[in-house]
Amino acid sequence: MQILITGGTGLIGRQLCRTLLADGHELTVLSRKPGSVAAKCGASVHAMAELGEWLPDRTFAAVINLAGEPIVDRRWSARRKQALWDSRVALTEQLVRRIAAARTKPGVLLSGSAVGYYGDGGDTALDETAAAGTDFPARLCQAWEAAACGAEAHGVRVCRLRTGLVLSRRGGLLGRMLPPFRLCLGARLGDGKQWMSWVHIDDYVAMLLGLLHDTRAGGPYNLVAPQPVSNAEFTATLAAAVHRPAPFVVPAFFLERIMGERAALLLEGQRVLPERITATGFRFSHPNLADALSNLVR
Ligand SMILES: NC(=O)c1ccc[n+]([C@@H]2O[C@H](COP(=O)([O-])OP(=O)(O)OC[C@H]3O[C@@H](n4cnc5c(N)ncnc54)[C@H](OP(=O)(O)O)[C@@H]3O)[C@@H](O)[C@H]2O)c1
Repeated sequence: MQILITGGTGLIGRQLCRTLLADGHELTVLSRKPGSVAAKCGASVHAMAELGEWLPDRTFAAVINLAGEPIVDRRWSARRKQALWDSRVALTEQLVRRIAAARTKPGVLLSGSAVGYYGDGGDTALDETAAAGTDFPARLCQAWEAAACGAEAHGVRVCRLRTGLVLSRRGGLLGRMLPPFRLCLGARLGDGKQWMSWVHIDDYVAMLLGLLHDTRAGGPYNLVAPQPVSNAEFTATLAAAVHRPAPFVVPAFFLERIMGERAALLLEGQRVLPERITATGFRFSHPNLADALSNLVR
């Protein structure tokens, strides 16, 4: 299958590319640094520097849309929010315009979103029918999903990937948390009651492959493990996995002071359940956090 991937050079994209190449697919990755694509994604992967290179007579059987500026790294100034928006919503709108122009349409578009779609969910268990939130990440996810749904008007099957916290030994959340935890500096955040909906990257990629090939799949999917945990439990489980104590608490007011509005990403959460992917018969390799972490940190 010829597959176009945006964000293919990222944490998820690189593992996805490895798996798709091993399955014999031919990949093109859109990247702002096309010269880095072969090294990051695989020697046989084609690089595309801008979507304008996708001419109408070029056919992709599938498009996987994962591009987006990192959301947690920098303070959310108005300019930063615009960059977060443009790299997801504007890019997805552009992608849908290329799909509309293509003479032969892709069969499927798998397009990014996040569990932040639901806003601060408190203790409520959230399946895909739960209402969207109203804060900035929630509005961003809604607009990102709405842009992707534009492809449906062209007969394309669209799956919206409401992604949880992806756990990988190669970076992301775990890449940030492991160094302090290994130095006995692990800490609960605020009161530790906020929910964390996590997923092992191997399960995440396996879910994407399932959605790619299952022609009945469409609509929103919560891509999370079936056992979300509180921040306090996540902290204790990670500390146990690295055999270190995590005695500290980072007070909420401190995070709010240094991170501003972004602190909500750490102090609020969502208790998200993978109802629709489970209904497809998907079997998780790592449904339990302790098992997932021991696999990743060993
Ligand atoms: N990892 C998680 O825990 C998690 C959780 C929820 C949602 N997500 C979403 O899932 C997607 C993939 O996650 P990830 O962890 O693999 O992300 P990542 O490692 O940060 O990679 C994102 C990719 O997006 C591209 N990108 C960044 N800024 C861009 C811009 N301004 N314009 C165009 N492309 C840009 C980059 O590609 P180039 O540098 O090659 O252009 C980069 O490789 C992201 O959209 C993220 O928001 C991830």
